[in-house]
Amino acid sequence: MSEHRLIDSIAGSMADLAEFRKLGHESIDLVADYLGNIRSTPVFRPMTPAERDRLREQRLPAEGTAADVIIDDFAQDVLPFAMGNGHPRFFGWVNSPPAPIGILAEMLAAAQDPSCDVGDISSLYLEQAVVGWLTEIVGYDPETAMGLLVSGGSVAILTGLAVARQHCAEADGWDVRADGVAGAGGKRLLTYVTDQTHSSVRKGIELLGLGSSSVRVVPTDDMFRMDPDALARMVARDRADGHRPFCVVASAGTTNTGAIDPFDRIADVAAEHALWLHVDGAYGAVGALHPQLADAYAGLRRADSIALDPHKWLSVPVECGCVIVRDRELMRRTFSLVPPYLRTEEGKGVGGPPSFAEYGIQQTRGFRALKVWMTLRHAGRRGLTDQVVRHVALARHLAAMVAETPALELVVPPQLSVVCFRYLPSDGDRDPTRVDAINELVERRVQAEGRAFLTSTVLRDRFVLRASVLHYATTEDDLRALLHIVCTAGATAERELTRES
Ligand SMILES: Cc1ncc(COP(=O)(O)O)c(C=O)c1O
Repeated sequence: MSEHRLIDSIAGSMADLAEFRKLGHESIDLVADYLGNIRSTPVFRPMTPAERDRLREQRLPAEGTAADVIIDDFAQDVLPFAMGNGHPRFFGWVNSPPAPIGILAEMLAAAQDPSCDVGDISSLYLEQAVVGWLTEIVGYDPETAMGLLVSGGSVAILTGLAVARQHCAEADGWDVRADGVAGAGGKRLLTYVTDQTHSSVRKGIELLGLGSSSVRVVPTDDMFRMDPDALARMVARDRADGHRPFCVVASAGTTNTGAIDPFDRIADVAAEHALWLHVDGAYGAVGALHPQLADAYAGLRRADSIALDPHKWLSVPVECGCVIVRDRELMRRTFSLVPPYLRTEEGKGVGGPPSFAEYGIQQTRGFRALKVWMTLRHAGRRGLTDQVVRHVALARHLAAMVAETPALELVVPPQLSVVCFRYLPSDGDRDPTRVDAINELVERRVQAEGRAFLTSTVLRDRFVLRASVLHYATTEDDLRALLHIVCTAGATAERELTRES
């Protein structure tokens, strides 16, 4: 087979640019129709067994399939069965809708398809720019900090914790890169979290070889925020017991309730006991843009590393997280390992800035910066701030409506854009197990019906419904509709459970 034939077989009919252009325009029409009609479609639609099988039981075809057929199949069999986060009545987890310009950015980035690790290439400079913007939002000095776009919060956190471990080893005079944690000479490296900390922290600790039994859980207050005095006491006790407390992870917006830990006081404890302070702001670090939340975010800039996900509150399409470390050189010492075939020199040939691969896990890296650049530049600082302010206001409005509805109970006042609440049975029976069971049924029913979508969590051992407001188009009417749907589902669930018992 000739080289030309090979190229032809992967590009197929698309090698003809007229065909590419035509299908490109049709694809944009498809997306525009999808976005335009989204309010009249179910938020989420469970798939039938046949619909699932149609997707997963396909065989790789022996011969190529025409591109227009593939795009038609996508429209028919794939697009309608989305998670729902594009819909303004989606209130699940921490998933925002893609900003429209971010959708375009994904295609444009794919056209260039660079590996954003090394070289004198535009995508690298764009990543430096957007990471600089995020660095400014969290209040770090861009001259000495270093950030990287990564796949999401989990990898951002893992990266921050790896730098924390390096910091601890350097401070104590051992070489974690050469010797692993065995170099610590038998001392346990302890990390402090709360029971609200995202599970990816524990996962990161496990992956770094520190073991999940090295994770200490600090008590929280009635707003689910870390208690810094309890932290100080626990660290002092662990030190006295011969352990090495090395890291505390605070949250700028927990997943469960949007709780913001008191960074300033935690930073004081960290400074006193030589702990690394990592802030998980995957969801809520951008809450720092809110003019009235300045007090809550005071001290954020004192963190040693921060995770902030553009694919959460900033509506940059998945995947896109960001890790920012205050000490650029420490981050480089944690990860730098450049094989000869990748060595370049700035100003010579393809040589550009130091490779991003020297600061993190990945070598070949996608062009995530383009969607961040387009989305953030399109909104501007004002647009981003307006969105944060609007979502916080909507969450407070939702909480107020919950508090006024006799069939509902507000579990905790929202600090950011997450509202946790419960349906209360009309017969006055508050047996906790029964109330939990009714609320579980409410969640499932609301999700399956497709008129709105919310998820749940467990707080102080009780099952609660959880609505997070992250869509740019959600209105107060949508919130009213959500509560109406929840109350109707609650009444049905109550009847169902009563019939069963
Ligand atoms: C507070 C917080 N941290 C970390 C994560 C993990 O982020 P990702 O799912 O992007 O890996 C999440 C995910 O929802 C989160 O809400």
